[in-house]
Amino acid sequence: MDSINLSVRLGPLTLANPFIVGSGPTVRTVDQIRAAEDGGWAAVCPKLTVDPSPYLSQPPRYRWLRRQRLHIFTAERRLTPPEGLRLCEEARKATRGILIMPNITYDGEDYEGWGRLAKRFEDAGAHAIELNMCCPNMSFNLSTTGERTAKATGASLGSDLVELPKVVKLVVEATRLPVIVKLTPEGGRIAQAAFQSLAAGAAAVGGVANRLGIPDIDIRNPMGTIYRLQDSITLGCLSGPWIRPLALRDTYEMRVFLGKEPFVIGSGGVSDLTSAVQQIMVGADAVWVCTETMVRGFAWLPKVLDGLRAYMSEMGYSRIRDFRDLLLGNIKSASELHIRQGHAEVDLAKCNACGACWKVGHCCSITHPDDRTTINTATCFGCSTCVDVCPRDAIAMVEEPD
Ligand SMILES: Cc1cc2nc3c(=O)[nH]c(=O)nc-3n(C[C@H](O)[C@H](O)[C@H](O)COP(=O)(O)O)c2cc1C
Ligand code: SF4
Ligand code: SF4
Repeated sequence: MDSINLSVRLGPLTLANPFIVGSGPTVRTVDQIRAAEDGGWAAVCPKLTVDPSPYLSQPPRYRWLRRQRLHIFTAERRLTPPEGLRLCEEARKATRGILIMPNITYDGEDYEGWGRLAKRFEDAGAHAIELNMCCPNMSFNLSTTGERTAKATGASLGSDLVELPKVVKLVVEATRLPVIVKLTPEGGRIAQAAFQSLAAGAAAVGGVANRLGIPDIDIRNPMGTIYRLQDSITLGCLSGPWIRPLALRDTYEMRVFLGKEPFVIGSGGVSDLTSAVQQIMVGADAVWVCTETMVRGFAWLPKVLDGLRAYMSEMGYSRIRDFRDLLLGNIKSASELHIRQGHAEVDLAKCNACGACWKVGHCCSITHPDDRTTINTATCFGCSTCVDVCPRDAIAMVEEPD
């Protein structure tokens, strides 16, 4: 286990491990940042600072839909420049070396303001600057809701392949710090946006995973809202474990497009050892975690780090790079996938004739004479839905020789 090295290098910086507290409500105060350091986190991205002043900044309204493992936020308090800069300065003094990478947005008239803001954070002691090109709950929310807005911030700017690199370049020229660009999957061009950001001089890129969505509608009270202390029905910004498949795809897409070298940060539903390793296997060097820190704080990480060391030792990995990208070459395109022949068979000793598989709408192979489940193996096309539908594990797929 001594030979296991969890550290990763982001430009001139060394992260002690791949876990970064993603920008959000758990990195708004010095006490939170100190707690993150005590919990073993390698870095924090303090809550978004908006210059000249945060628009769309309200007391937070969240829902954590526990059963769906889905988090939604509609309103969020952003930091003003004095608040963000003070947080950065004080956090540097109060911590022993956790990396502090403030998340910033400039919302003034001239793009040069992005560079000025980055420089102020450099002077306040930041280790890196993170550009918020990702939040869907700013101007992107307004345009999606049909409201006219001249502003382009967060996901709107991050999905604009013409304007995005101009901003990144200005920030890179204004600061000596590594610049991280946090991108949105909204717009469907995250890999291209990542490429443009790196070409403009960014040290790292990553994906936020957040999507704007409409939460459950109560059809008997459709004007009601699932939010507490909020009257309006609004789009919400979605995060948490349910988003993992989409988040893995974002990371994968960036890594495939960018090649091996660039530093890529994944996020979206990372909440334990498995979900972090999955992100690394599809191309992430590190992960941002937000929702899980909101729900469970920071103190769960040491156990995950121990688990990661044990896992790497068991698998024969000594560095994160040893399993980063592991899946890349193995994820086949739809035209390359190899299908094996087979059919379903039922074990009547386990079947209690519940009838669930009898109803599968696309299947003509299951009949039930005298309530006895019968599968016609000659017509079964091997899709396997019946296996998943059966509550008693009474059906299995059987491979046929080619
Ligand atoms: C309530 C909330 C506030 C967030 N605020 C920010 C922010 O200020 N800046 C930013 O870049 N990302 C922000 N995020 C995005 C997270 O940092 C993270 O990338 C995303 O939620 C996906 O990861 P998760 O599923 O672990 O939350 C926020 C997320 C949530 C849930
Ligand atoms: S595998 Fe698909 S086609 Fe075959 S019996 Fe099951 S549901 Fe029907
Ligand atoms: S779903 Fe399973 S238990 Fe129910 S009838 Fe089909 S095989 Fe039998």
